[in-house]
Amino acid sequence: MKDGHDIIGLGLESSCDETAAAVVKNGTTILSNIISSQIDLHREYCGVVPEIASRAHLETINGIIDRAMEEAGVTFGNLHYVAATSRPGLVGSLLIALQSAKAISYVCDIPLIGVHHLQAHLYAPFLEGHEPVFPYIGLLVSGGNTALFMVRDFDDYESIGRTVDDAVGEAFDKIAKFLDLGYPGGPIIEKLAATATVKGITFPRLLPDRGDFRFSYSGLKTAVIQYMKRHPDAPREEVAYGFQEAALELLVRRVFEVSRETGVPRIVVAGGVASNGRLRRMLNDGRRREERIVVPSPLLCTDNAAMVAGIGYRFHQAGRHDSCSLDVCARG
Ligand code: KG4
Repeated sequence: MKDGHDIIGLGLESSCDETAAAVVKNGTTILSNIISSQIDLHREYCGVVPEIASRAHLETINGIIDRAMEEAGVTFGNLHYVAATSRPGLVGSLLIALQSAKAISYVCDIPLIGVHHLQAHLYAPFLEGHEPVFPYIGLLVSGGNTALFMVRDFDDYESIGRTVDDAVGEAFDKIAKFLDLGYPGGPIIEKLAATATVKGITFPRLLPDRGDFRFSYSGLKTAVIQYMKRHPDAPREEVAYGFQEAALELLVRRVFEVSRETGVPRIVVAGGVASNGRLRRMLNDGRRREERIVVPSPLLCTDNAAMVAGIGYRFHQAGRHDSCSLDVCARG
């Protein structure tokens, strides 16, 4: 039986290489947040293999849902809605969470809510006690995205800039692969860079023209690769440090430029790269007194289903439900 005034939602996420299920109360309180990462399956390829990813989601998702329900101490009869990421992502992977959500919606007779993955990432801070104040600038930094949004409401956001080539997380992954460091590159490069005692290697910080809020990472990637070809014995930690400083400075410069030009002082930074401690410090050091920067804790920066259940609650309250004919979509 559904009890009291609390609204309990189940969130499901399988857009890339994490299978996740979470139960959230009233869009703000996480009752459970179960994440199964496939990193070990993809490591030898230094990237996500779509066929391997979708098969692994299929094999894992039922067990993950059971664990999320059990840890939250709820039954299917307690759920008021089920939300799943429906876009963007790998089509074969997205299908697994969405089809599971449709089955639960149908059997339990509760609303189905399709969620945009990037909107869900930008919701993550509101699961940690931060009150949403609109509008805010959203900076999404992950393996597949480097994008800026003007967020006016939970379901009202405008893309105001994105990368013209690689995503920043992708650049971390590719440089780590080039340096033979392993996968995923972000956390490995961050750790290695922290051990650099000499910090003399610098790389160019190239951004497309001012007045245009785009990013670019292919020039930086080429600069690192060319440097390594000229200096094959360069200490890896110094190269990692130089690369990380340049990569992160591009983000920090751009987000403050956007905030100051638009006059919106509230900034939310989300996605896997937002778990980088150096990025957090640079954002804090670069901000003016009136600027407010919110970054979720590392567990909520990477892909998870709590953020899906969280924003799903807002859509549920707004009556924005989907039918069982909802389809997945690779693009945003
Ligand atoms: O958001 P996410 O879990 O998945 C998607 O890409 O959707 O982000 C994963 C990306 C990877 O490229 C990974 O290398 C990067 O985030 N990443 C980091 C760090 N932790 C993860 N990049 C820099 N520093 C980190 N500490």
